[in-house]
Amino acid sequence: MAKIKIDLDRKIGNVDRRIYGGFIEHLGRCIYGGIYEEDSPLSDSNNFRKDVLEAARPLHMPLLRWPGGNFVSGYHWVDGIGPREDRPRRIELAWLSEESNRFGTDEFMHYCSVLGTEPYICVNMGTGTMDEAQAWVEYCNGTSNTYWANLRRKNGHEEPYRVKYWGLGNEMYGRWQIGMLSAEDYVKKAREFAKVMKWIDPSIELVSCGQTGWTDWDRIVLEGLAPYVNYHSIHIYTGSSDYYSNVLAPHQAERALRNCRAMIDLVRYNQNISHPIHVAYDEWNVWFRERTPESKLEERYSLADSLAVATYLNIFIRYCQTVKIANLAQLVNVIAPIFTNKEGLFLQTIYHPLRLYAEHMQDIALDAFVDCETYAPQADQETSQWPHRVADMGPFNLLDVAVTCDASGKELMVSVVNRDLEKEHTTTIQLADNAAVASGVAYEVNGASPDLVNSFEQPQAVGVQEHQLNLAGQDVTYTFPAHSLTVLKLQLA
Ligand code: AHR
Repeated sequence: MAKIKIDLDRKIGNVDRRIYGGFIEHLGRCIYGGIYEEDSPLSDSNNFRKDVLEAARPLHMPLLRWPGGNFVSGYHWVDGIGPREDRPRRIELAWLSEESNRFGTDEFMHYCSVLGTEPYICVNMGTGTMDEAQAWVEYCNGTSNTYWANLRRKNGHEEPYRVKYWGLGNEMYGRWQIGMLSAEDYVKKAREFAKVMKWIDPSIELVSCGQTGWTDWDRIVLEGLAPYVNYHSIHIYTGSSDYYSNVLAPHQAERALRNCRAMIDLVRYNQNISHPIHVAYDEWNVWFRERTPESKLEERYSLADSLAVATYLNIFIRYCQTVKIANLAQLVNVIAPIFTNKEGLFLQTIYHPLRLYAEHMQDIALDAFVDCETYAPQADQETSQWPHRVADMGPFNLLDVAVTCDASGKELMVSVVNRDLEKEHTTTIQLADNAAVASGVAYEVNGASPDLVNSFEQPQAVGVQEHQLNLAGQDVTYTFPAHSLTVLKLQLA
């Protein structure tokens, strides 16, 4: 029998709710036809899709990153302000499309306030200039009687938006990037951007453009930008048509976070840097299927993908001391939990773990001990378009577990992803120091096959089942079904 031992004294740290952040990019139908649609009966007077807002609210995203992604490296934000009819249509190079600029900075800020989330803007370090980045900060946050702050006022926004989080470019190391840079050149350029942006508003917090968290790029960038930044970004996507590779690949996030933490600590020590630097894992998700030329990206997610997403979330909880911000890429259509057409939407499988964690996760992560069967993926099994591999890190526990408790220590959330394709795992959950379960409820994401997907025709093929639990005592037993996510919410006596 498997065993999970929980000791309320073994605290890892506080879980930052910003790990439930989101990301919207001008890509495919994420903005236009996703969150924003003109002339649609489903939109409100701001052209925001009401059904999308309703679906997004339960995800409780505290932070929303925008406008890209690769898109930002060719985006001139000034194109997207002022009267809509005067805004230029541009050729968009990142995804080879056309940008109408009908959704711009003021629309984004409005969207954030309607959704109840905080804006996180990534600046253009491809074709963009230092001047533009500085002007963007002034437009958003300026309080003086100066051009950009006054332009915001003229556009109807008297009060500053007070945007706290600013990213210094997106994936500037990438061959696919408009204006790719070497790490050294990026550092030189980003330092100047950081200086002037901070001069405009010293209270902003900056995110350096990292890679996977443990490359030479990351090291050079951290060494060069540590005095200026509060966060270092990591982007890693995973996914594979091989079930085990798919559900286990998120473990590379553990390696990335461990290594990035070490790099940050070393740089802070060597440079005697007193302010904290944390990881902003500002793009993550499962993403590996074909993209269609017309829609750019329209990933359909399976039950297996939702188990991978839950594994990522467990990892972010376990590494809560390192990762303070994470942004799921993305919110709607493209590679996202919400999928629309002109008539409505359905919730993809990955929506369910995201909502369950955002709703039920408590503030303190606990270091649970897990003893269960393991699985060792072989290197030749890992078929994926992504270069990262985890076979060398195995074997992995088939049960991936994260535990949080509230400040009173009376409520526990135990999230267990059973990645076993075939077998259920009966498990004893043991509580230390005479703590005992009084009652509980289980939320389960599962289905007949890990390949199940939701669709307009079958929106509930994969959903959440809720069961009241009839268990009590210091040791309780629960059976986690094959290929499932179970979130146990336990009240202690
Ligand atoms: O999220 C899709 C793309 O993935 C983003 O534009 C880019 O930053 C990453 O490569």
